[in-house]
Amino acid sequence: MTDRWVLVAGASRGIGRATARLLLEEGYSVVASARNVDSLEEEFANAYKDRLKAVPFDFTQIEKLRDYASEIAGLTGGISGMLYAAGMQKTLPLTQSNPSVANELFRLNTFPALELVRLFAKKGAYGAEGASFVLLSSMAAHEGALGTAFYGASKGALEGFIPAAAAELAMKKIRLNGLVLGVVKTDMSMQFIEKMNAEQKDALHAEYPLGLGEPEDAASFIVYLLSEKARWLTGQTFTLDGGHSARTTYSVRR
Ligand SMILES: NC(=O)c1ccc[n+]([C@@H]2O[C@H](COP(=O)([O-])OP(=O)(O)OC[C@H]3O[C@@H](n4cnc5c(N)ncnc54)[C@H](OP(=O)(O)O)[C@@H]3O)[C@@H](O)[C@H]2O)c1
Repeated sequence: MTDRWVLVAGASRGIGRATARLLLEEGYSVVASARNVDSLEEEFANAYKDRLKAVPFDFTQIEKLRDYASEIAGLTGGISGMLYAAGMQKTLPLTQSNPSVANELFRLNTFPALELVRLFAKKGAYGAEGASFVLLSSMAAHEGALGTAFYGASKGALEGFIPAAAAELAMKKIRLNGLVLGVVKTDMSMQFIEKMNAEQKDALHAEYPLGLGEPEDAASFIVYLLSEKARWLTGQTFTLDGGHSARTTYSVRR
């Protein structure tokens, strides 16, 4: 597995970091990118020195993505997987969500993800055996939590991209799948949860029959999608949400 390099974009915290950790534990080699990779290097460099390359990068620098992808291809000889987990959320009423808010969200959540898939589908950028790419969407693209319309749009665009892109990439043995995540306990979600009062927190927890997710819950499914075990699987977006979307609000509550 050591020759299987996986790029984790957004690896410094949350779901990306948990995925980088699991990949390293399972014997993959990892290129880890985010703006701040120092603590990641501190945690992993000793144990996995030869299998970890930390490459700091700000993914909103879309005009520099081509050079970034070339650098990663050169470092690895071609990646066999990529998780795009860099992202941000903004909760704002629709009337305050002006074009600059949309631009900020799409510039990190959407455009780099599409561009990295495109760049790493070029000859030499992915490995001889093909590759597997995973993008992360959100329940916000499917249900109406107040203030999340623009964030949901930035994620829904990824889901719209996946089927047609996957169909084109299949001829190169590149697989592309997405995950719709429910609430996973990370810096991103905690900044909203911490602002809730006790009643709102209870209501949130009641919406998750299996409880809120841990980053490791997302990581284990992502690593499966990145692995050869999922070799017949492409073009799909799966929901991983602790039973959130399986429950119904029309049940008689206790
Ligand atoms: N947590 C949830 O409940 C949840 C639910 C649905 C979907 N998601 C999606 O899952 C993905 C990961 O979320 P998370 O909860 O793990 O978030 P998180 O804990 O806030 O981590 C976000 C990651 O993105 C990186 N990042 C942010 N801005 C960046 C930039 N400009 N350039 C490079 N890297 C950047 C951060 O690193 P630096 O700050 O070091 O750059 C960090 O590694 C996001 O796309 C999010 O929308 C999360």
